[in-house]
Amino acid sequence: MLDSLVRRRAVKDDSTAMRLKYSPYYHHFERQDGCRVWLEGREMIQLSSNDYLGLNQHPKVIEAGQKALKKWGASSTGSRISNGGRAYHRRLEDKLADFFGTQDCHIHSAGYLSCMSSIQGLATRNDVVFADRNIHSSLWSGIGMSRARVEKFSHNDPNSLLRAVELESPKKAKILVFEGVYSMEGHIAPLPEFLKIAQNHDLFTVMDDAHGVGVIGETGRGTTEHFDCLGKVDLICGSLSKALATTGGYVAGDKELLEYMRTHSKQTIFSAAISPAQAACAEAALELIKAEPEHLTRLINNTKHYKSGLEKLGIDTWGSQTAAVPLIIGDRLKAYKIWKELIAQGVFTTISLPPSVPPNKELLRTAISAAHTVEDIEQGLDRLGTAFNKFR
Ligand SMILES: Cc1ncc(COP(=O)(O)O)c(C=O)c1O
Repeated sequence: MLDSLVRRRAVKDDSTAMRLKYSPYYHHFERQDGCRVWLEGREMIQLSSNDYLGLNQHPKVIEAGQKALKKWGASSTGSRISNGGRAYHRRLEDKLADFFGTQDCHIHSAGYLSCMSSIQGLATRNDVVFADRNIHSSLWSGIGMSRARVEKFSHNDPNSLLRAVELESPKKAKILVFEGVYSMEGHIAPLPEFLKIAQNHDLFTVMDDAHGVGVIGETGRGTTEHFDCLGKVDLICGSLSKALATTGGYVAGDKELLEYMRTHSKQTIFSAAISPAQAACAEAALELIKAEPEHLTRLINNTKHYKSGLEKLGIDTWGSQTAAVPLIIGDRLKAYKIWKELIAQGVFTTISLPPSVPPNKELLRTAISAAHTVEDIEQGLDRLGTAFNKFR
């Protein structure tokens, strides 16, 4: 193979060398049963999945995926604009639009594409995007690709947003980008305050609710339902890979907006449609969210149980308001040691370090599922207590 600058960059990269040395990422479980996973033959409590409602292994979700595979085959075989569109795509989109109280919806094969699309498909290089500092990488990618100017505001801070907006020309097209529920922090956005600023200053609103849908709101419709604001955000984007128990993503909003996005979004035009089994699993999960509220009730009870245990242990959860629960450590080496100790004790968490989180917020990301048993939570807390005490 030819030597080249790019090859040398890859071979000598310090971040990759560190990752391979300490190996906290890219694990491959050999087996999974409920919230237990097996790594190198050892059973572990899975404390970091996004299967919030525990529907990933629900028999109806599995059956729906199997039936779709039989009926349609494994692939959608193309992009939606050409040969990839199928009746099951439209059916899921109609059901999602109905769920969110919007006129229309468009699904993609990954939430990353949907979130990018919702910005790149609408914004132009002459626009200004006001972005919460802590938004997901997919939204930053959409902003970057749109080439709009970006003004960052402090996380979840309407005053900081307002200050930035007031400095802007009223003639500019302005877009506000934020998350409904933040995946790392578990914080809920101050949606009513944001909507008020949006209304007063002509801001188009894009909200990523990947971690809100299924998790908050009386019937699991996410952040808009939580604040009684159904239908008031211009575009809701998100992922099917959390409470909706499969992979893929969606953008929901008014019909005219989605038709415009279908014309201009590169992620929508040039990427193959979501596969039959993915779409069928999401549709089944959506039906379960509507028909079986007990999953959400269990998630709420499990989260309360877990958080009250963490409080007794004196572990800082960064004010998490949802089932995404960060365990703040605030020191890179300590975070790594605690993460490793937990692996040794049979608890799987995800370590997150700057620049993924702000400096001094080195953390272990944990998330609660409706599928966690009381034993999972109590054993998990017990082991967390031991690991944190050892390195405090
Ligand atoms: C907030 C948020 N937005 C978007 C995505 C992207 O979704 P997907 O994993 O389906 O590509 C994720 C997933 O990690 C996420 O957490």
